[in-house]
Amino acid sequence: MTAQWRTEGAPSAHGHAGQDADGEQAALLRAGMEGLRRTDPELALLLDAEVRSQNATLAMIASASIADPSVLAAGGAALSNVTAEGYPGNRYHPGAARFDEIERIAVERAKELFGAAYANVQPHSCSSANLAVLSALIPPGGTLLGLDLDAGGHLTHGSPASVTGRHFHAVHYGLDAAGRIDFGQVAALTAEHRPQVIIAGASAYPRTVDFERFRAIADTVGAYLLADISHIAGLVAAGEHPSPVDVAHLTTTSTYKQLGGPRGGLILSGEEHRTPGPDGRTPLSRLMQRAVFPQSQGTPSPAAIAAKARAFALAAGPEFRETARLTVTGAAALADELAELGHRVLTGGTDNHMVLLDIGEYGLTGVVAERALEECGILANRNRIPGDTKPPLVTSGLRLGTNILAQRGMGPDQARRCAHLVHAVLNATVPLGDTEYRIDPERAAGFRAEVRELCARHPLPLQSRESSLAPLIGAGQ
Ligand SMILES: Cc1ncc(COP(=O)(O)O)c(C=O)c1O
Repeated sequence: MTAQWRTEGAPSAHGHAGQDADGEQAALLRAGMEGLRRTDPELALLLDAEVRSQNATLAMIASASIADPSVLAAGGAALSNVTAEGYPGNRYHPGAARFDEIERIAVERAKELFGAAYANVQPHSCSSANLAVLSALIPPGGTLLGLDLDAGGHLTHGSPASVTGRHFHAVHYGLDAAGRIDFGQVAALTAEHRPQVIIAGASAYPRTVDFERFRAIADTVGAYLLADISHIAGLVAAGEHPSPVDVAHLTTTSTYKQLGGPRGGLILSGEEHRTPGPDGRTPLSRLMQRAVFPQSQGTPSPAAIAAKARAFALAAGPEFRETARLTVTGAAALADELAELGHRVLTGGTDNHMVLLDIGEYGLTGVVAERALEECGILANRNRIPGDTKPPLVTSGLRLGTNILAQRGMGPDQARRCAHLVHAVLNATVPLGDTEYRIDPERAAGFRAEVRELCARHPLPLQSRESSLAPLIGAGQ
């Protein structure tokens, strides 16, 4: 495809979009941004403001990471214009030669990154990946066993609010008194309900998941084990958390949470990829190909798949491994310092990127803590915790994560400083009911200044190392 078209009224910075020294795709992106600024300033200004905000905000959202500019560029590629249902070499539309190559590259990189024998890069999200896997392995009305939402599970693990809780008989295990997965309960519920699928994985669980133990229990009733590593995929890829790929039958993940990729999902299988599905014949890998297309999705998102390929390559590098190490050591320090400062840290600490606080113990609700922190330039989100008596939009918990701190190069020392900042904001917050609060404006301004200074000292890694797209990113980062 040649970049011969231009955004209306927008001459390329280099004269003709198709003749840009950086290549056709770079010219298109540049022309696109210039055209957007000229013809749709409302949108362009908001996009610029978001970049500024991300730079100057201390994001401690456990389910987020910062995508490298080269990942964002791939995700914005003209490849997006290709419509091609099916898989490489077997499409239902013409014109997919480049996309075929790119999808093959993405699959190979995913397999290499995770040591998998099979990868499907087409799921539009981890929710889609989970739906594809569950609907392929469980008949309508069949049984799944997953972690309870309030104990840290995900909606797609059989919550009544999700189709997975309505179309399947969902049974849930919980946590023990120490806040760890209650394997005694997992085993008992497995024996009682004989689920077709057991899901190991969580949205809010700060400890190592023992996939081997789950697999041993699944084997007692011939259940398939699905490992959902949506939150910890980066740690798994970097060797900072045990990998489930050869332990579980199937593994799913989001690509944007810890992998620094685009919005999207991924299905993996290791040693079990040839194991037959429920029909006793079809290998799991073949079953998954069908489960994604045509059973649960139509066209794939080609540019997102290119962006996944780029993210997988970056995640295989030494810098990513160093970031993963900082993520874990930073989270441990954050948990430790918050506990020292008098907060109730669930499970007493963390093994991964996540720290969960029982903020109700501190006299605040999750939503009040979240809003007060945001007013002061810090992002962390409310979260229900075991035994929570507050509604889901209020909650008694606060979830913090160190993915983006680590991407800023912040390790244990800086994480401790962040703990003090968070503590100071929460201390200055006067609750006025479950959802309202008051904070002295001058103190809030002081916290914001401190956050800006910290962020400026530890800038986001927005300059792509190998990419030549720096002019697109703008100055001052
Ligand atoms: C454990 C788990 N699985 C699945 C998902 C869904 O991911 P996505 O946003 O990619 O649909 C999440 C998202 O929060 C999650 O935490």
